[in-house]
Amino acid sequence: MLSTRALSATRQLARATSSAGAGAVRCKHTVPDLDYDYNELEPVISAKIMQLHHDKHHAAYVAGLNVAEEKMRAAQKANDLAGQVALQPALRFNAGGHVNHTIFWKNLIGEKNGGGQLAECALKSAIEQKYGSLAKLSAQVNAKTATIMGSGWGWLTFDPAKGSLDIITTANQDMAAGVGHVPLLGIDAWEHAYYLDYNNVKADYFKNIWRVINWKDVSQRYDAAVAKHRAAN
Ligand SMILES: [Fe+2]
Repeated sequence: MLSTRALSATRQLARATSSAGAGAVRCKHTVPDLDYDYNELEPVISAKIMQLHHDKHHAAYVAGLNVAEEKMRAAQKANDLAGQVALQPALRFNAGGHVNHTIFWKNLIGEKNGGGQLAECALKSAIEQKYGSLAKLSAQVNAKTATIMGSGWGWLTFDPAKGSLDIITTANQDMAAGVGHVPLLGIDAWEHAYYLDYNNVKADYFKNIWRVINWKDVSQRYDAAVAKHRAAN
């Protein structure tokens, strides 16, 4: 019999993919268009990386998610419970890859279009209250993200359990929502995100990416998370 945990994971994936604007789980997923050109983030992230990252890597997660969901529907139709459980890792990995990258593209914008600029807002106040300054926050996020062994993501999140900002990492393509956090800002720490530009000097990628953070987007995610938290408490 399909375990309660496995069923819960399936429902969580459905909610996460839906909340990321990725569409309902029973629909075919598609790679969202970028809001900017491939060279928007240069010199921090090259057009070559953006094109490969968006058109090949993200596309592979979307294709994998669609295949996994199709197989899941077939397994459910056949009442193949063992098959449904066996599909969970592929669903989790590809759904996470799709959701995380969908957030990541929105989190970024070129320096000439306001990248790296955090205006006065509720998020700025919350950052300064908890971390002291944006510079200290970025240093803490970078330090924590650098501890990832292998591939994963560094996140600035809103933790509904604490009602405050938090810094976490997730392994591989695991989602922040998987540990109950609301993702605000994701730093892709996979080699495919930086290696063509930075080779093995990952620290420079972490340091430079703050120049192209779209704080308007991060701030909107924060405001929405706080509003939802207040409505529920
Ligand atoms: Fe990536």
